[in-house]
Amino acid sequence: SRSELDRALDLITEIPDFPEPGVIFRDLTPMFADGTAFVHVVDALNEAISDDVDRLVAVEARGFVLAAALGYARRIGVALVRKPGKLPNVADRIDYQLEYGTATLELPVGSVKPGERVAVVDDVLATGGTVAASVELIRRAGADVTGIAVVLELAALGGRSRLDALPVHALRTI
Ligand code: PRP
Ligand code: HPA
Repeated sequence: SRSELDRALDLITEIPDFPEPGVIFRDLTPMFADGTAFVHVVDALNEAISDDVDRLVAVEARGFVLAAALGYARRIGVALVRKPGKLPNVADRIDYQLEYGTATLELPVGSVKPGERVAVVDDVLATGGTVAASVELIRRAGADVTGIAVVLELAALGGRSRLDALPVHALRTI
């Protein structure tokens, strides 16, 4: 029989032609909205993250939801990597390539400290550009990235291969 975690992940739906024709978008919002599913997903991510992590780094926006629950469970803080123009106190920013065009992410002042052991949390690993950019920001701040935890990995987009030797834990890989 399917595990509780499988049942939770099965709430992720496939939306054809979003955000543009030809793309199949995986929508995690039904999983987030189901209390039982959310608890099982957060518990599974918590088990995937090593015990000695000092801080979580989460990427706007859906990464925030997961990291908030994980940070509370572990009694550790969450650094919020944000899209440009949101933060009043930017320590560092990075531009990175998207499939078409570029994007920017910003790290708040003081949110990641030198020598810390950090895990990166997000909902989906696709091309890996977002997580790779976050890893670069954390390393520039002098901290160590010990691993990456995501709910869903879209393996065909090759994200894992962009994250040189870092442990990537995905609850489901498709
Ligand atoms: C999605 C997802 C990841 C990223 C994955 O965020 O939540 O952060 O894209 O893609 P990549 O591996 O190819 O970089 P999105 O930009 O849709 O932002 P949102 O969470 O604010 O909706
Ligand atoms: N769903 C959610 N986030 C994403 C996706 C997706 O299919 N692809 C890239 N980021």
